[in-house]
Amino acid sequence: MINLLDHLAAALGPGGVIIAPEDIAPFGTDWRGLVSNMPRAVLRPRDTAGVAAALRLCAAAGVPVVPQGGNTSMVAGAVPSRDGAELVLSLSRMNAVRAIDAAGLTMEVEAGVTLRAAQDAARDAGALLPLSIGSEGSAQIGGVISTNAGGNNTLRFGNARDLVLGLEVVLADGTIWNGLRRLRKDNTGYALRQLFAGAEGTLGIVTAAVLRLARAPRQRQTCFCAIPSVEAALDLFARFRDEDEAALYAFEYISGAAMAVNQSYMPDFRLPLETASPHYVLLELATTRRRDPLRETMEAVLADALQAGVITDAAIAESEAQRAAFWAIREHLSESQRRAGASVKNDVSVPVAAVPSLLARAAAMLGARHPGARMVAFGHIGDGNIHLNALQPEDGDAAAFAARGEDLMEDVNAIVMELGGSFSAEHGIGQIKTHAFGQLRSAAEREIMRRIRAALDPAATLNPGKLF
Ligand code: MLT
Ligand code: ZN
Repeated sequence: MINLLDHLAAALGPGGVIIAPEDIAPFGTDWRGLVSNMPRAVLRPRDTAGVAAALRLCAAAGVPVVPQGGNTSMVAGAVPSRDGAELVLSLSRMNAVRAIDAAGLTMEVEAGVTLRAAQDAARDAGALLPLSIGSEGSAQIGGVISTNAGGNNTLRFGNARDLVLGLEVVLADGTIWNGLRRLRKDNTGYALRQLFAGAEGTLGIVTAAVLRLARAPRQRQTCFCAIPSVEAALDLFARFRDEDEAALYAFEYISGAAMAVNQSYMPDFRLPLETASPHYVLLELATTRRRDPLRETMEAVLADALQAGVITDAAIAESEAQRAAFWAIREHLSESQRRAGASVKNDVSVPVAAVPSLLARAAAMLGARHPGARMVAFGHIGDGNIHLNALQPEDGDAAAFAARGEDLMEDVNAIVMELGGSFSAEHGIGQIKTHAFGQLRSAAEREIMRRIRAALDPAATLNPGKLF
């Protein structure tokens, strides 16, 4: 390893290899603090050639490499799976926005650009990068693509995968694939860019991407609603979709229990409504049309819904600051929950119509089989993707609760599978969901993936211990 590190330092130049224990420590622990495995060293290439040189050297030495962007994975997908034996390859120094084509609505960015920096660059060019997730200030484009991130605008624009037009990837043996094409149509064999998107860094390391942009909206209307039931949330969703599906950019659900956790742990928390409710929806309409009566649409649908008892109260954001305050409540849920103690995160999806049944059955199951566990549900209800998280009992023992995590997850997943859903809707598999992946995906499906992985990474040096 010493010899390898010398070669890597020579290939990557000044600052390219970090070995001091205090400097590498943050790269070994995941955002949720579930896994702590120190890397042997951290590699910080400045360019694609550096990534290729590093992977070539590591492959020859048989040393595993863990690609890491913002390290915001919810499933420990970007930290080592063993202590002291793997190298982390950080993409942070590859952070250039290479080009923006505002007329063609594309942007080319390096893997280490944060999602927020990419959004800002698109906005400054008069366009919209239509991907929004809670961790966008830290999450980097390479990780966003490698995990096929979803988030709040999937409903309207799809997941990260749907925004990828072209990719640049370095394979385990150092081969560079430059597929940075910016074409809407390109039917030339296997869609390799789709293979690497969502592969969690197991097939190659994404070093740059061409992303599809959208036109910047000229109007937005954002509303916080109190809802009497989950069924009512879906009723409201149907009403807005029927009225103007293209304008429905986001439709997010927050349970009363999730809001209560926020209330306890979010600094400066302020509920935007007069009174607390058992359920809430945060929704956003937007349009690129100058003369669209968007506000009238919002008010008319809300008025009908109020009369029908589908909502009990609503507040429309009257300023950009108020809109930001509404979204801050939604985006702070994960952080509040992290502060509240040990959690089991079930990032699940079911067909949209099955969401009420999912939540009712999960609540009953938790009460019966995991007494004291608090169900903290929220998420992208318009996609059928609910973060059906379970929080440790109040005043309970965090370690004891975490120890029962796998059982709890299995119980939730059993319900999810019966409803025709998925046990990981947007967070991926990483190290935390490998057991569920082995149990709930068919042998044939896993074998296809195993063969693809073995073909591209025969020495198994790329992100080992992740997926399977
Ligand atoms: C979110 O949508 O805020 C995250 O994906 C969910 C989570 O922290 O469970
Ligand atoms: Zn989410």
